[in-house]
Amino acid sequence: MSAPSSSLPLFDDRVLADPYPSYGGLRGSGAAVLLEEYGVWAIPRHADIAAILKNPDVFASEGGVALTALANQEILAGTVLASDGAQHAKLRRVLSKQLAPRAMTALADRIAVRAEQLVTQHTASGRFDAVALARHMVCDTVLELMGLPDADREVLAGAPATFDVFGPHNARFEQALPLAARVVQALHEHLVREKVPAQSWMGAIFEAVDAGQIAESDAIPLASAYTAASIDTTVLGLADCLVQLAQHPEQWQILRRDPTRWAVPAFHESLRLEAPIQGFGRLLTQATDIGGVHLDAGEQIWLLYGSAGRDDRRWGDDADTFDIRRPCNHQHLAFGGGPHLCAGIPLAEIQAGAVLRALAARCAHLTLDGEPVRVLNNLLRGYSAAPLAVELTPRPASSGMSARPAEACQQGSVT
Ligand code: HEM
Repeated sequence: MSAPSSSLPLFDDRVLADPYPSYGGLRGSGAAVLLEEYGVWAIPRHADIAAILKNPDVFASEGGVALTALANQEILAGTVLASDGAQHAKLRRVLSKQLAPRAMTALADRIAVRAEQLVTQHTASGRFDAVALARHMVCDTVLELMGLPDADREVLAGAPATFDVFGPHNARFEQALPLAARVVQALHEHLVREKVPAQSWMGAIFEAVDAGQIAESDAIPLASAYTAASIDTTVLGLADCLVQLAQHPEQWQILRRDPTRWAVPAFHESLRLEAPIQGFGRLLTQATDIGGVHLDAGEQIWLLYGSAGRDDRRWGDDADTFDIRRPCNHQHLAFGGGPHLCAGIPLAEIQAGAVLRALAARCAHLTLDGEPVRVLNNLLRGYSAAPLAVELTPRPASSGMSARPAEACQQGSVT
C-alpha cells in the first residue's frame, strides 16, 4: 500500500484562517501524511505526537524544528529549542530554577496585583481589546523577569515574526527574516551586564556564563528563546480564552461562580482547542514506522499540535466543543512534551489565571463587541485584536454548583 500523501497547502492564508477541516482530513488519512508541497510528513493525531515527543533519540529537534535549512542552520542552531541531548540539557538547566513552580508561586501575589490593576484599567469604559489587555499583562511580567522593566516595547514588536521563520520559504518567511534579525539585534543592545539586575533571567544567564556552565556566545540566543517563547504564545492563548468565554456565556458563568477552581482549566481548554503554536518539526535520525507508515532516516516530520487538540480519538465526539470542565484538559499538546516540554507552563498558568480571576471578580457578562481580527502566521494562531464588552457588577457568591466530580486522568500527561 502506498503511504498517505496530500496536496494540502498547509501554510496558505485560506488554510491558516481555518485549518481544522484540513486537520480532520489528515487525521483520517493516516498517522503520517506526506505534504507534497513541502516534502514533510504531517503528524496529525494526538497519540502519535505524544509518543514522538518522548523519543528525541529518533526524532531530533536539531536541524529539524523549523521547515527550512536556512532557519535550522543559520537562525536556530545552538538554541535550547533546536538542540538535543547534553547541549539541550545544559541550556535548559540555566533558567530552570527561575521558572520552576516554586519560583512562580513566590511571584503569584505580585502577578495577581498586576492583573487586578490592568483589568480595572482596561475594562473601565465597559469595552476593551482582549489582545491589548493580555499583551500589557504579559509584556510587563516578562520584561520585568528578564531584567528589562523599562525597556521599550518596540524591542519585542517583531516577535511574531520570529515564529514565521519556522515555516516554509513563503512570503511570510521572507518578510519575517529582517524583523527577526532586528529583535535579536535589539536584545544584543539591551541585554548587557550593566543594564540587567542579578536577580533576573538575564542575570542568571550571565551568572551561568561566568561560572563556565555555558559559553558567552550562548547568552543572547538563550535569552531570545525565552523572550520569544514567552510573550506571543501567552498573549494569544489568553486572548483566545477570553474570546471563547465571550462566545460561551454559560462557560463564563461557570467560571465566575468559582474562579479559583475554573480559571486555569478554562485556559487549558482554549489552548487545547486553539494551540497558539500550531506545529513544530523534528528530523528522523533513523528509519522508523509511525502508525504503520514507514519513514526513512533524514526525513522531516511536522507535529500538528493544533490538530492533536481536536482529535476525537483522544477527546471524544465533542472534541470541537469548548467546555472548561472537560476532565484532564491540561493533557493537551499545546505545550509540546518530552524534553522540550514548554519551560514556561507555570508562568503562563499564573498570568492567565490571575487575569481570568480579576475579570471574574469585576465582570458579570463578557460579550464580543465586534469581529476579532485573526493573525495569519506560519506557526502562531490567535488574534491581533479582539474587541469585548463587559457589564461591570459584583461577583455572585460561590454556589459550588459548577463543580464536576474529579476524574482520574489517563496516563501520558505532558505535565
Ligand atoms: C500559552 C503559552 C505558551 C505556549 C502555548 C507555549 C508552547 C510551547 C511549545 C509547543 C513548546 C515546545 C517546542 C517543541 O515542541 O519543540 C514550548 C517550548 C518552550 N517554551 Fe513555551 N509556550 C508558552 C509559554 C511559555 C512561557 C511563558 C515561557 C517562559 C519562559 C516559555 C518558554 C519556553 C521555552 C524556553 C521552550 C523551549 C523548551 C526546550 O526546548 O527545552 N513558553 N513552548
